[in-house]
This record gives sequence, structure tokens and C-alpha cells, in this order.
Amino acid sequence: MKKIQELKDFKNKKVFLRVDFNVPLTQSPITNRQSPILETYRIKAHKETIDFLVLAGAKIALVSHIDDSFKNIMNHIGEVLGYQLIFEEDILNPQLNSPLTLFENIRKYEGEEINDAGFAEDLAKNFDIYINDAFSVSHRNHASTSAIAKFLPSYVGFLLQKEVENLSKVLDEPADGKTIILGGVKVSTKIPVIKNFLDKAEHILIGGALANAIFKFKGFNIGKSLAENSGVERVLKELDLDNPKILLPEDFMVSEDATGKLIPEIVPLADVGDNQLILDIGPETIKKFSSIIKNSKTIIFNGPLGLAEIDAFSIGTKVVLDSIIRSNAFSVVGGGDTLALIEKLGLFNKFGCVSTGGGAMLEFLAGNRLPGLEVLGYYEKNN
Ligand code: 3PG
Repeated sequence: MKKIQELKDFKNKKVFLRVDFNVPLTQSPITNRQSPILETYRIKAHKETIDFLVLAGAKIALVSHIDDSFKNIMNHIGEVLGYQLIFEEDILNPQLNSPLTLFENIRKYEGEEINDAGFAEDLAKNFDIYINDAFSVSHRNHASTSAIAKFLPSYVGFLLQKEVENLSKVLDEPADGKTIILGGVKVSTKIPVIKNFLDKAEHILIGGALANAIFKFKGFNIGKSLAENSGVERVLKELDLDNPKILLPEDFMVSEDATGKLIPEIVPLADVGDNQLILDIGPETIKKFSSIIKNSKTIIFNGPLGLAEIDAFSIGTKVVLDSIIRSNAFSVVGGGDTLALIEKLGLFNKFGCVSTGGGAMLEFLAGNRLPGLEVLGYYEKNN
């Protein structure tokens, strides 16, 4: 992959910079100037690339997707980045009257998500250089992450470089001393990762709804606990769940109430009641997981081990994160819910790498080829 630091002359060059500003917003009307963006890490993470290009004198088009519109949050994005942004609606007719222009949601164009070559060519024609800094969307085969690279000299930004470097480092390290910890709710995206790590890690520690789904599949009663249903059985069948590397929780915090108002009980799996929900891992599991973490050299963490947005059920995840921080291991953490929790706890700079990728991180760790990296030449040298 060609890195942006290899390109010397950016003066007045029109740069199409693919970023990922797909951030969670508060429910309140977005005209409320308070703080509509719930989690700004993804925006901040692009600052190094943006600063570099601004200093080099480029005219930068910031291009991203989001659920709705950037119009009402562009000032907040500018504040986070430390720049005044100009907003433009139409990336197909860019004016670029300022060093930094934020364009409207790229997914408003039909050609984007179908990776339409004609649309990508239209996108490219007003620019000199394409830079992808959005690792977290490089698993999408879309025009702004894939087809556009065919029409412009293409480079990778600092954030994408860093994430790929760190994630390939943890994939390539010897299995001995490597621990992967997986939790959270999107069960079907994590099973391929478990499969890929069976010969790449020494320990695979599992919690959250992922553990619930495995228990359910094995025929245990998990009461009313959250566990993804559709399609999960088929993928679980393909997995060697008896492999001793896979460690499931031994005890749990359970309750009939997920709001945290009732004091939860600590029980072994056999005692989970029909009306109860598994909401966190229990103390014995925390102890066991922490001691494995303490002796690990490399750690990957994706997905909370319980309902961590409720304080009463966040203990397992917090202690495990704390054990990672205290260990001497190189650590990579990521995933949407995980980012929200570590932002809340102020732990961003405590890990070797905090990946901005949710789905992209998991696909990379599952060993899949990411289309956004493929077009930049990543796999030419790396396989
Ligand atoms: C993400 O939030 O993981 C990326 O921004 C990709 O978003 P998407 O799942 O809507 O493609």
C-alpha cells in the first residue's frame, strides 16, 4: 500500500479523503448544540492524517457515510478536529473553497453502496489524489472505499496504516501467549474469528451474548438471556466447541431485571432460572480470565462480557479491561460497544491500539480479505 508520507507534493492538490465519521448521535434533535455526538473517538482518530494534509497545503474533501446527515453536526466535528469546516452538499460538484470541506453523507448516492464504476469515475474526476484513512469501513465494497481507487492515484492515511499494522501484528504473533477475548452481541460476526484463532491463539475467552448463544446451542438453559438466534446454529455447528482453548464463563451475575435496580445473584450455569437473564460474568470467571490475561503476551479484546452499559453489570468487563492494562501484553481493543465503554471510563490511551473498526476489525481478524484494502494493494505483498 502506498502511504501518504511517501507523496511529497500536496500543495493545492485536490484530495478525496475517505474518513469514517459514522458516529453515534444522541436522541435529541441534532440542532441542539450541546453534544449531539456521543462518541468522538472515531473523529479524533483521523486528526493526524488531516493535520498532515492541511500543513502540506492540500484542498481536502472529507467524505464519509452516516445514518442521516452531517449538516447539523459539522460544527461539532470541526471542534473535535480543531478546524473550521465548510459544508458542501454535492461531492459530484465540489467547490473546495477552503482547505477543509465536509461533504454530505456519501450513501445518499445510489452508486455508492453498489460500488458502481461509473459513479466512482464521476467522484474521481474532480480530484487529484484518493486517500483512504477509514479502516473501519474498508470491509465494505463501496464506490468510495473500493471502485474509486481505480480512477485516482491512491494512498493510505496514518490511521488506516496504524490499524492494519497493529491488527496484522496480533494475527501474526505466535499462538503461544496470545489471548483473544470476545463478547458483545453480534454473535455471527464473531464465530469466524473464533474459528480463525483456534490455531492462532493459546486462549479464547468468551462472554456476553456470544457465550449465551454457545450455551443455548449446547442445550443449557439460559433463561431469558440475550442470544442471537438466526443463522447462529449453522455456524456454531462448524466450530469445535470442545477445543480446550475455548473458555466459557463458569459463573454469572443473573437477575430477572436488566435495569440494575434489583441486586443480581451469582450462580453457576446449572442454576440460571427460567425467568432470569445472564447479565455479567461471575467472580470465579473474572478470576480465571484475569489470571490468563496476566500471563499473556498479546491480547485482543472485542465486545463487552456483560450488559456493560448498566453499571451493575459492567464489573466483569471493567476488571478484565483493567487486567489487560496492568499486564505487560501488547493489546488491541475494538468494537462499537467496547469503544463506548472505554470512552466512558477514559481509558483510550491505555491500550497498544484502540481500533476504530467494529465489523472491519472482526473481518480482518477472521482472515477475510477486505475490499477496501484489496484495491490499495494490501494483499499483493501480504499473501
Ligand atoms: C461501522 O460503524 O462499523 C462503519 O462505519 C461501517 O458502517 P456500516 O456497518 O453502516 O457499513
